[in-house]
Amino acid sequence: MTKKILILGGSSFIGSHFRVILGKRVVPTYNSRKIPGGLKFDAVKQNLADVIKSPEIFEAAIILLGDTHPDSCAKDKIRSRKLNVESIIRIIKVLKKWQLPLIFTSTEFVFDGLKGNYSERVNPNPILTYGRQKLEVEKFIQENCHSYIIVRLGKVYGSDEGDGTIFTNWLKQIRTEKNITVAADQVFSPVFVDDVISAVLVLLEKKAWGLYHLGNDRGFSRRQLLELLMQKMGKKIKITGCSIDDFPLIEKRPKNVSMNTAKIRKVKGIHIRPIGEVLDLIIKKQP
Ligand SMILES: NC(=O)c1ccc[n+]([C@@H]2O[C@H](COP(=O)([O-])OP(=O)(O)OC[C@H]3O[C@@H](n4cnc5c(N)ncnc54)[C@H](OP(=O)(O)O)[C@@H]3O)[C@@H](O)[C@H]2O)c1
Repeated sequence: MTKKILILGGSSFIGSHFRVILGKRVVPTYNSRKIPGGLKFDAVKQNLADVIKSPEIFEAAIILLGDTHPDSCAKDKIRSRKLNVESIIRIIKVLKKWQLPLIFTSTEFVFDGLKGNYSERVNPNPILTYGRQKLEVEKFIQENCHSYIIVRLGKVYGSDEGDGTIFTNWLKQIRTEKNITVAADQVFSPVFVDDVISAVLVLLEKKAWGLYHLGNDRGFSRRQLLELLMQKMGKKIKITGCSIDDFPLIEKRPKNVSMNTAKIRKVKGIHIRPIGEVLDLIIKKQP
């Protein structure tokens, strides 16, 4: 019998794509948003071993759950730490006892954004609570586990209107507004959600344990991304560039968190689509 993949946080944006692509090969968990075939698991209040009774049916676990909003993490550091650090470490200890390989999704926000083009060899220095919490878990995994994959993801985007991601959010604005204001001074490494799923599956299949950066091969600002989308759509709308610091954010954002993704690109079978190629797909999908 083919073993299954446990998705902790199957109701997440990324988790929903794993579910679509892998179907019955995954067992997903959810907390507040019930999903078909999902197991209720509140990582703060429940123990994973009380929810999963037959761990031997799994080949690996992918940890996607957490508070993924930097401002929400900063607003209540104790609450967010309970979920993003304490509960995840508890989960990792259980997975280790079960000898299950794990995949942990970290973030480009482990960097301070002063330089950009960060490779896996650069020492992180998070300035956001969210980044510090992710880094704490990364370190725990590196010090305590053997069969693990940590993927630091750039900003993940989808292709379905209404999915709340960067390009699809702009589609409606481009159709209805005369002027769009976007930050022009924060640079990051966007990555298409389907490429995240396939890259993780390739790494897992190859048992290519370790730390990887997963994102576009160069950094982009929001302004550059919006210009690219408009160019592809053949639309011309006024863009007003502003600073990310103009937004009322609790913690100041790192400015250039773009990642060097050469390591993961060397793994045979991994394909990270250029943004232009995905934009064609997004535009084609529009009604
Ligand atoms: N999306 C990105 O751009 C991006 C970039 C870098 C890294 N990542 C990482 O990738 C992972 C998935 O991101 P995402 O954006 O897809 O996540 P998301 O849509 O924000 O979903 C968060 C997940 O956490 C679950 N959750 C929240 N509180 C929980 C609790 N107390 N117990 C158990 N589960 C709980 C949610 O379950 P319910 O909804 O059912 O409550 C949901 O499944 C995260 O670890 C994130 O840090 C994402």
